[in-house]
Amino acid sequence: MGSLALLLWGVFPYIVLTIFIGGLIYRYQKDQFGWTTKSSELLEKKRLRIGSLMFHWGLIFVLGGHFAGLIVPVQFYNALGVSEHFYHNIALIFGLPAGIVAFIGIVLLAYRRISVKRIKATTSMGDWISLFLVILVIATGLLATSMNIDSHGFDYRTTIAPWLRGLFVFHIQPELMADVPIWFKIHIYSTFALYVAWPFTRLVHAFSFPIRYLSRNYVIYKRRIRHRAS
Ligand code: HEM
Repeated sequence: MGSLALLLWGVFPYIVLTIFIGGLIYRYQKDQFGWTTKSSELLEKKRLRIGSLMFHWGLIFVLGGHFAGLIVPVQFYNALGVSEHFYHNIALIFGLPAGIVAFIGIVLLAYRRISVKRIKATTSMGDWISLFLVILVIATGLLATSMNIDSHGFDYRTTIAPWLRGLFVFHIQPELMADVPIWFKIHIYSTFALYVAWPFTRLVHAFSFPIRYLSRNYVIYKRRIRHRAS
């Protein structure tokens, strides 16, 4: 195993994780009131609704697929008699449409942000960076999947998945990444860039009751309470 491989797949992931967790703790300590998605609903509502719904619901299915393919060990599917071919087809049938919906959603949100003057004016550098990184991660994920449609003998459940799980128990195995096709590597490194930016942008809102976020109003409006003079 070369030292570059060790650096890329054994050392950098921990640097990224340290910035991610350390950054979140720092942000929580320093800026609890800024811990928000910075709602722009008041500025424009219609396009926000459709873009945001598509992006978030698409993403939930994408991340569910990532859990099934990367966290659940391949041995589990083997024990159930699920073949590689069958698993791959299911992953494509559900994963690709979910990824495409999330992609269309985020592109609509980006378009809204660029085309509505008032929103553009209230967009910070951090907002642009997070928007760009989310688009990059989804686009590279879709590319990786599209380049691997006939799977050509490459199964991420016996390579990327054990490499990723190993990181969480400090069992680094960079050799598992040696023959991974380049698009998957680019996808993973794009996610690393996203994790580094995460704590310092509006992306932190993902850690605030993500489920309630999907059904509640974008901004909580409070009724004015009239105090009767007694
Ligand atoms: C270290 C973290 C991650 C790893 C190791 C990883 C790995 C992968 C792999 C192996 C695939 C191919 C799935 C298939 O072909 O069935 C994929 C696809 C994809 N990934 Fe990731 N990914 C990570 C994080 C993310 C994140 C954070 C996002 C979104 C914000 C994302 C978005 C996508 C999308 C949209 C696809 C296209 C296929 C689909 O919709 O499921 N990934 N990723």
